[in-house]
Amino acid sequence: IEFKIITNDGTHESMKMLIDLKNIFARQLPKMPKEYIVRLVFDRNHESMCIIKDNTKVIGGICYRKYPTQRFAEIAFLAITATLQVKGYGTRLMNKFKEHIQKQDVEYLLTYADNYAIGYFRKQGFYQEIKMQPERWKGFIKDYDGGTLMECYVHSTIDYGN
Ligand code: ACO
Repeated sequence: IEFKIITNDGTHESMKMLIDLKNIFARQLPKMPKEYIVRLVFDRNHESMCIIKDNTKVIGGICYRKYPTQRFAEIAFLAITATLQVKGYGTRLMNKFKEHIQKQDVEYLLTYADNYAIGYFRKQGFYQEIKMQPERWKGFIKDYDGGTLMECYVHSTIDYGN
């Protein structure tokens, strides 16, 4: 298992992985319009951390956008392929992601969690109480009715590695 940051850099390899990841998101997040998933996954402001099995097979990932001046990142989509859920990959992914984002000087993570995923996010250290000042994030991320806004503080010195 490997964790790789993939961006829309125009290479064939990245394209293939982002298409695979987009397909996992589309299947696992059926309420999300497919065009919206495609748009964000291939958007140059977004990056994705993919979990890759056997060198090439994408089995899940997280698509996010950093707001460097505000020192937070928004998680847009997160999913593990159906057959491999509840085996700990989602937890490993989040730990790797925190380890990565910590080095980018990000202090908070925000996400609109699906009702079904609130339990997962709670276990990963996300809370419904938003500690960030509204001026710091309001207007930067889009309001979204279909989910519950959750926040996670990324401590600058905790070792999130696993
Ligand atoms: N509700 C409550 N608890 C959950 C859920 C859930 N939906 N999913 C996993 N958990 C629990 C597990 O039981 C486990 O608990 P434990 O540590 O006490 O055993 C813990 O969360 C972590 O489980 P993992 O095996 O690490 O999680 P998994 O690999 O299944 O990944 C994920 C979790 C990403 C939510 C996956 O189940 C999935 O892809 N679901 C469908 C898509 C989805 O809902 N994505 C999030 C939508 S919100 C968004 O994208 C911003």
